[in-house]
Amino acid sequence: MNPHRSAYLDHAATTPMSPAAIEAYAQQMALVGNPSSLHSAGRAARRVVEEARETLAASLGARPSEVVFTGGGTEADNLAIKGLFWARRVNHPERRRILVSAVEHHAVLDPAFWMAEHAGAEIVLLAVDSRGVLDVDALRAELAAHADEVALISVMWANNEVGTVQPVDDVVAAARTYGIPVHSDAVQAVGHVPVDFAASGLDALTLTAHKLGGPVGVGALLVRRALDVTPVLHGGGQERGIRSGTLDTAGIRAFAVAVAESVAARENAAPRLAALRDRLVAGVLAAVPSATLRGPDPVAEATLRLPGNAHLTFAGCEGDSLLYLLDSAGVQSSTGSACQAGVPQPSHVLLALGIDEDDARGALRFSFGATSTESDVDLLLEVLPDVVARATSAGLASVGTRRHRSDREVSS
Ligand SMILES: Cc1ncc(COP(=O)(O)O)c(C=O)c1O
Repeated sequence: MNPHRSAYLDHAATTPMSPAAIEAYAQQMALVGNPSSLHSAGRAARRVVEEARETLAASLGARPSEVVFTGGGTEADNLAIKGLFWARRVNHPERRRILVSAVEHHAVLDPAFWMAEHAGAEIVLLAVDSRGVLDVDALRAELAAHADEVALISVMWANNEVGTVQPVDDVVAAARTYGIPVHSDAVQAVGHVPVDFAASGLDALTLTAHKLGGPVGVGALLVRRALDVTPVLHGGGQERGIRSGTLDTAGIRAFAVAVAESVAARENAAPRLAALRDRLVAGVLAAVPSATLRGPDPVAEATLRLPGNAHLTFAGCEGDSLLYLLDSAGVQSSTGSACQAGVPQPSHVLLALGIDEDDARGALRFSFGATSTESDVDLLLEVLPDVVARATSAGLASVGTRRHRSDREVSS
């Protein structure tokens, strides 16, 4: 095998910055000016930030005043969960319930559980079906029984592991009857499926730059203008007092370039990525009969699945063995699951889909982005049969003595 061949199939973890975003980033980094300063350098930086806000808002069907820049998706999710909960409790101390889908990213789940431990919240995990689609009837039943106690609802737009696109419209419609605010983590959705903030009826929406061609460390929470959000970070009062901290002018400029680009390219890019994904899935299933595709059917239920996501489990293998063996063969992928104290844990997402622990351990996610090509799929299909054979014998050898490892992959 040619050791120089490689395939990056982990765009859902992070995707390369686009050339236009790199150029905008580099140009702006060479300039000085705090957007909050009153002198001309500060005012020039402020103009850049406000233009970026307008560009980003226009790409996402939002108003510029609804954009709150943050230091990424995790921060925006924390601000949504904690900020909405605290703001609602001011006038409604009886509203303790936070409703979240069972397949949320840890950036939503962990702040919600933190609020249960430290701020009197009660978490209700909303069930999903075997494809990862939210059970909207269960949500409606929960609201019918307890709407007066609900502070907020958070349901992701698209899942980062199995790629399921959620029925956000139905969630918003169910919540509207009771006037309950809805947040959605759209980190994996923007640039991959159509996202229009105004049309969605959502109250708050999270996005992050590094999943769509922008830099790491900048994101935004779109917040409906009339909605109260209690700040999590206190300081200089930037971003309407909702998010203090000096604005990252270069990051924000590059973020807006990447959002505009990825949203404009989406209509052409999505079918291309879906075709790569379909070829990968068909090739893997043909080469490895023990593999099972997880999440919605990419062909029969195409609108329920992100175009660039393929997620499979390999019976009798450990996902991390597969990941390391594939990596040595030049293919970079993800297991999608976290590990605790050095022990790989089956993913909470796969368990919520009803997949048993042993099957869930053999999970691998492949995800495509703007720079993906047919040769990425070729390389994976070429090396996979041998990798699976080796991981299977390692899996048989390690039954009962689950391996520990020191490094840590967290779901992304
Ligand atoms: C669904 C989802 N939400 C939130 C995040 C966190 O975003 P960030 O890496 O910008 O903090 C990620 C990325 O790992 C994600 O996939």
